[in-house]
Amino acid sequence: MSDVLEFAAVSVVRGGKTLLDAVDWQVKEGERWVIMGPNGAGKTTLLQIAGGRMHPTRGVAGILEEVLGTVDVFELRPRIGLASAALANQIPEHETVLNVVLTASYGMTGRWREKYEKLDERRAFRLLHDWGMSTFMNRNFASLSEGERKRVQIARALMTDPELLLLDEPAAGLDLAGREDLVARLSELAADEEAPAMVLVTHHLEEVPPGFTHALLLRDGGVVASGPIEEVFTEENLSTAFDVPLNVQHDGGRWSATARR
Ligand SMILES: Nc1ncnc2c1ncn2[C@@H]1O[C@H](COP(=O)(O)OP(=O)(O)O)[C@@H](O)[C@H]1O
Ligand SMILES: [Mg+2]
Repeated sequence: MSDVLEFAAVSVVRGGKTLLDAVDWQVKEGERWVIMGPNGAGKTTLLQIAGGRMHPTRGVAGILEEVLGTVDVFELRPRIGLASAALANQIPEHETVLNVVLTASYGMTGRWREKYEKLDERRAFRLLHDWGMSTFMNRNFASLSEGERKRVQIARALMTDPELLLLDEPAAGLDLAGREDLVARLSELAADEEAPAMVLVTHHLEEVPPGFTHALLLRDGGVVASGPIEEVFTEENLSTAFDVPLNVQHDGGRWSATARR
């Protein structure tokens, strides 16, 4: 199996602050990773590097058999699907749902004068259908509920048929039903052998979709633990990462944690 990500001693320093501290990390084809850690641990920063949106200050970031810094990122980025709040914020208020998905094929967030093939339109429609959003395709993105918006963003991230799918807190802001719906859909995607390698960022164990295979635990920019999910999500590791004694439950493929009293 070839390497999707191969990070060696990746560090990011900004304004004298170490956001990532010598992170080693390997993601192989077919793997589904969760990046977990408290607020400010460096999860988004790590995902930005994996998406070719940021360069490490030190270390080497291998992405899809290319080395960041020696490759044209504009050729690399279409091979990676990314859904994040930062990207969603760039979507123009009146953009239609269909265009939000369609414009991903040009790496744009708003439709301008570019022409799309019928094939692209069919793929966008198909993805919206898969994510339960086809009846919304002519609606303004801004008019959707948070859960609907999240599903459109994932459809968009899949538009270029990427080899790597990066999701930064896809369940943030969802109510309980919305979260459960999304977790089930992501679990289904994780089980699809045709689906790309996946990396999902969250700070809630309850948001980890069944079928995710690996986890990376971050704290203060450093790796607490990394590897097969059941070896990583121990009470000891999670308590260390979140700096609070935790009871961890694992039942029916789902994870949850509460503070130990
Ligand atoms: N440009 C920057 N300069 C200084 N600090 C930054 C910069 N960008 C992010 N940070 C800080 O780096 C830390 C890690 O950020 P981030 O990767 O967004 O964490 P997470 O996604 O785990 O919450 C945070 O404390 C954040 O405030
Ligand atoms: Mg973040």
